[in-house]
Amino acid sequence: MHVVKKIISYNEIQKAIRLIANNINCDFKDGVVLVCNLKGGFRCFCDLIYYLKILVEIDFIDFSSYVGGKSSGNVEIIKDLKIDIKDKDVVIVDDIIDTGLTIKSIVEYLYNFKYPKTVSVCALLSKDNKRVKDVPVVRYKGFNVEDKFVIGYGLDYNEQYRHLNNIYILGGI
Ligand code: IMP
Ligand code: MG
Repeated sequence: MHVVKKIISYNEIQKAIRLIANNINCDFKDGVVLVCNLKGGFRCFCDLIYYLKILVEIDFIDFSSYVGGKSSGNVEIIKDLKIDIKDKDVVIVDDIIDTGLTIKSIVEYLYNFKYPKTVSVCALLSKDNKRVKDVPVVRYKGFNVEDKFVIGYGLDYNEQYRHLNNIYILGGI
């Protein structure tokens, strides 16, 4: 049995996402490509779209590094982009930036192979003090969280708990 402790409520999440959406509305008046990093980014991604008032193209990628509760160390492309992002402004939406290695690989991959104009990172959560060196800055961030394993609102532990409407710390893993 896992022990859970609620740390961020649904209402707090909505407030943070509305603020991020307002900033994206101001920063990309000519439109943006919003890219969801599956699967964890999906809830935050849907909420963001709800609040965006600019022109938006959407796409999905799946770059994965975690197996269970631990980083596997290797980043693997499971699903690539479908649309052309050449010369476009792109915002990648992810659930959480931990070491930042996954997001670093995605940003580098997009710049090297897809030639976007800009790539920015939006993360619902960030473990700022876990960040390794040379990782791109997260331009849009919901919450900083302590170095504990968190679940809910898209974040999973072995594919469980993504559906939860609040964010919790998972203990006993
Ligand atoms: P990073 O490469 O270390 O930044 O790991 C990023 C990815 O690991 C995220 O997109 C998540 O899918 C997963 N991850 C990192 N920390 C957690 C956590 O506390 N709970 C659930 N997933 C996590
Ligand atoms: Mg992820």
